[in-house]
Amino acid sequence: MCGIFAYINYLEPKTRKEILQFLISGLQRLEYRGYDSAGIAFDNAEGKTEIIRQSGKVKVLENEIWSRDDLSVDQSLDIHVAIAHTRWATHGAPSPINSHPQRSDEKQEFVVIHNGIVTNYKDIKQFLTKKGLTFESETDTEIIAKLIKHIHDNHPDLTFRELVEQVALQLEGAFALVFKSILYPGQCVATRRGSPLLVGIKTKSSLSSDHIPVLFSSKDLKRQKDITPTGLIGTKIQRSDSTTEFTPLSDHAEVEYFYASDASAFIEHTNRVIFLEDDDVAAIEDGRLTIHRVRRDFDDKSPLTREIITLKLEIQAIMKGNFSSFMQKEIFEQPESVFNTMRGRVNFENETVILGGIKDYIPEIKRCRRLILIGCGTSYHSAIATRTILEELTELPVMVELASDFLDNERPIYRDDVCFFISQSGETADTLMALKYCKQRGALIVGITNTVGSSICRESHCGVHVNAGPEIGVASTKAYTSQFISLVMFALVLSEDRISMRPRRTEIIQGLKMLPDQINSVLKLDDQVKAIAEELYTKGSIMIMGRGYNHATCLEGALKIKELTYIPSEGVLAGELKHGPLALVDEAMPVIMIVTRDKVYTKCMNAVQQVTARGGRPIVICEENDNETPTMAYKHLKIPHVVDCLQGILTVIPLQLLSYHIAVLRGCNVDCPRNLAKSVTTE
Ligand code: F6R
Repeated sequence: MCGIFAYINYLEPKTRKEILQFLISGLQRLEYRGYDSAGIAFDNAEGKTEIIRQSGKVKVLENEIWSRDDLSVDQSLDIHVAIAHTRWATHGAPSPINSHPQRSDEKQEFVVIHNGIVTNYKDIKQFLTKKGLTFESETDTEIIAKLIKHIHDNHPDLTFRELVEQVALQLEGAFALVFKSILYPGQCVATRRGSPLLVGIKTKSSLSSDHIPVLFSSKDLKRQKDITPTGLIGTKIQRSDSTTEFTPLSDHAEVEYFYASDASAFIEHTNRVIFLEDDDVAAIEDGRLTIHRVRRDFDDKSPLTREIITLKLEIQAIMKGNFSSFMQKEIFEQPESVFNTMRGRVNFENETVILGGIKDYIPEIKRCRRLILIGCGTSYHSAIATRTILEELTELPVMVELASDFLDNERPIYRDDVCFFISQSGETADTLMALKYCKQRGALIVGITNTVGSSICRESHCGVHVNAGPEIGVASTKAYTSQFISLVMFALVLSEDRISMRPRRTEIIQGLKMLPDQINSVLKLDDQVKAIAEELYTKGSIMIMGRGYNHATCLEGALKIKELTYIPSEGVLAGELKHGPLALVDEAMPVIMIVTRDKVYTKCMNAVQQVTARGGRPIVICEENDNETPTMAYKHLKIPHVVDCLQGILTVIPLQLLSYHIAVLRGCNVDCPRNLAKSVTTE
């Protein structure tokens, strides 16, 4: 969804052109999140705020920026604050006037960029309208810009940070906000509640690698009399007498800061980040960053100490390389990404599995009443895919819930429930709200996420990081297979001491070992899949059928096809065929069927017969050693044999490839399907 990027330099001279380039490339890195308009605000040569906004792609905005000859692009600036945004329309259609930055007034005294939704914006708008203010956009964000100016006009003595704190106190809903003001030159203040926001820090002198980098408060320094504070960024070391020593950077005058919705926006500049917490207010002034809390006691106004995290994210991980789209790259990365999910966790020699993130909670989990798996979209499908093996190996009842439905129905949750929240982004609003609901009721919260430092990670008691690497394409692919494996690994951990389950565990662990090579073999079907796509891309609908362990693949394959190609597609449980979907089958309806040699093989073959008897021409995904199924199929794709509970990893890949090829043939935007966003941070 919307993307935030801001760049602030302090005594590190940059030309306006360089700053504009930073903003454009920051926005380009955020494009994958999904958006429909973009905008920037920066200081112009007259010391006023210049806003440029456009509907459509960042490219359109970029063209508009470089077409302007009044921007004094060669002027060098020692101190500068610039903010930028990609908007995914919620209140008001995509248009320049509804794009962000939104402004407080015609003089543009305050400008703001916003992710999320302010739920009480109508009340605030009514209040401000009564004060005589008028609005130019349809957005909920404009009320924020107007509200901060209103508070400032009535309390001119408040600092910029205090103004933002006052605004945050008035807002309800989910938001990440970054403010800029001509009344507070060189300052940039940000806050968040419910929507992610990070600060990136780039200092001239490097932070010592053997000490922990931190942002610390002047209070910490005062305790160390021998230090002259030159800045608040530095390192800390824990002494043996359990006191802490803070060392500020000696040469901290020149510094650059970034705010962004995720680190990919600034990773080419710095990998040092602070993840802001809900109700943090981060203020940059005179090259110094301080973090305060919105709802702190009035007598404690000192800033907080926060650890600076060094991210391992490499720039290559967020580049397309030789692939035509991120989605294609991510599909082909799966041999590596599933390997990374298992690395250091599965020992194939002695057949043990260790999940460091939940190790200490295993006794508690074993005593629980039931496991509840909660997620949305593809993440929900990974829960369906692994439910049966979880039930078999843990011998616990397992429920699978869609986060939005779970919340709508306020499902009963007990203290002895263990709730898993599965999310690639770790920021999905529905999943996060369901998490908070379960946490309030005392359940143990386990996060299964792909994004370090995400809200779901931080709100969970324990968890498994799926380690799939950054997923940029809006359609989830490699995160799905890694979530799948993470849940299987969890089932293996829970069954470790069951002697009766040893043979089953052995076949699964050996199956896991073969997966990277087998995925490589499935990826070699790409040309065959493309040929099938050439037959299907003009069709009006596509059915995908299977049962047992492949039911989730049908749902996930259908989701991939509909979201990427806009062709209506249905994932059908083959056991339900006679109860309705069979009516859709005729010679014209494209039907894809998944038939693997497991305990439901005969039933699947019956389904194939029912389809062919109605003139249907099934395209079958079957196993290499199966010579019977292809004789009944119109076309077939052969995949390697793997233990039943892992088949879903291999059977989903041809469908990922198929949706990709159909999307390309139909001229659809593969990485950013229409109307969709990567990180769904609103309900
Ligand atoms: C589909 C897709 C979505 C996400 C869903 C949950 O390809 O990507 O269905 O799976 O929006 O997102 P996360 O996993 O980030 O919670």
